[in-house]
Amino acid sequence: MATRKVIETKQITRVFKNGDIEVHALKGIDLVIEEGEFVAIMGSSGSGKSTLLHIIGCLDRPTSGVYKLDGVQVNGLNKNELADIRNQKIGFIFQSYNLLSRTTALENVELPLVYDRTGRFSNTKEVAKKALVQVGLADRIYHKTNELSGGQQQSTVVKNK
Ligand SMILES: Nc1ncnc2c1ncn2[C@@H]1O[C@H](COP(=O)(O)OP(=O)(O)OP(=O)(O)O)[C@@H](O)[C@H]1O
Ligand SMILES: [Mg+2]
Repeated sequence: MATRKVIETKQITRVFKNGDIEVHALKGIDLVIEEGEFVAIMGSSGSGKSTLLHIIGCLDRPTSGVYKLDGVQVNGLNKNELADIRNQKIGFIFQSYNLLSRTTALENVELPLVYDRTGRFSNTKEVAKKALVQVGLADRIYHKTNELSGGQQQSTVVKNK
């Protein structure tokens, strides 16, 4: 069966520089993830998992090496192009949720649909409501994010994609 490479990294490195101190967090990572694969990245604390995921999620760039997402080389893209890719192709559940506080679950789910520049969503509120109902949050739609449980906030993040 023909498979499509969704994620491909070649010799990715990431060096953090703080003054004179350099931390080599990633030292030449080659990774291929094909369409339909579920992959878990495991390793000891400080081994570079979050650093790698931030690069794969287009939240950070490698110091050297090549990253291709859906066949597109991400390295050369500017800030706005990266923002579009994050909006349309990446779902990222942060350990600390990163939802907007003082706004409702509905507003958090609706926001990326409003920012979507493909014009796919004219009825953003309806789509967002439906998504929240799907994850069992029908009775929390108008709750502020700080009024949700940890799991409910994670469900909101999932549906924020
Ligand atoms: N902004 C930064 N500046 C300097 N060093 C950093 C920075 N971010 C991460 N590091 C270092 O890079 C290495 C990899 O960190 P990373 O957060 O990717 O690890 P991790 O595998 O996600 O760990 P954990 O399991 O504890 O979450 C660590 O040695 C860390 O101290
Ligand atoms: Mg981590």
